[in-house]
Amino acid sequence: MKYSMAPLLSLVLLASSTYARTVFSAVSVNGIDQGLGVGVRVPSSNNPIKDVTSPDIICNTNFIQPVSNAVVTVPAGSQVTAQFHKTSAGYVGPDPADPLDPTNKGPVLAYLAAIPSATQSSVTGLKWFKIFESGLSAAHQWGSDVLFINKGNATFTIPPCIKAGQYLLRAEAIALQSATSYPGAQFYMSCAQLSITGSGTATPATVSFPGAYKSTDPGISLQSSIYVIDSYTPPGPAVFTC
Ligand SMILES: *[C@@H]1O[C@H](CO)[C@@H](O)[C@H](O)[C@H]1NC(C)=O
Repeated sequence: MKYSMAPLLSLVLLASSTYARTVFSAVSVNGIDQGLGVGVRVPSSNNPIKDVTSPDIICNTNFIQPVSNAVVTVPAGSQVTAQFHKTSAGYVGPDPADPLDPTNKGPVLAYLAAIPSATQSSVTGLKWFKIFESGLSAAHQWGSDVLFINKGNATFTIPPCIKAGQYLLRAEAIALQSATSYPGAQFYMSCAQLSITGSGTATPATVSFPGAYKSTDPGISLQSSIYVIDSYTPPGPAVFTC
């Protein structure tokens, strides 16, 4: 029995080692769900972005039309949840591959960028800072595992000290099962349109997209497979803290 299972297991691994497929399509603020696509630029496809030099690495591409013109008000210091599901349709019922194929592992990250108007279509030239990352824990739990356990909810705090204003939130899941060569890592992200309120004055150090990620980053082109590595540094800058 033990040996006869082996070919079946390899087939399962082969079958599942393609695309993780997930879409960030809704936000909650302090646990209040804002609704599917409300204030979120939702890509119509759950195909990954794989080119870190493409403008599509900023906020994804081919958005469901019309793009929401809502701007979600978020007091600085709030808990924001980025809700990921297998497709742009959000949660549609039990599915073993929702919010993503659990055999596909990788980090979950979130960034903010100030923007003149959160609903403007242009996202070039924005300056991003990282507010959250969930990589690989000592117990060998990936950010994607935590996302799966939390049924697609990635929850983080908006830094209480940042300046009020219009921002884009870029929340991202990266799947690394094919990342021992480049392009191989799969980037799944959307941007949410926020109006952050408060009296903060901090101006975090920033990075650009494209630019923040390099094909040679150790968190993007892995030395060895996700099934054997025991430490992992997500790409991008350090998380900003107040
Ligand atoms: C995920 O977030 C949604 C919307 O806020 C909420 O209804 C749901 O209970 C959350 N699920 C889990 C497992 O936390």
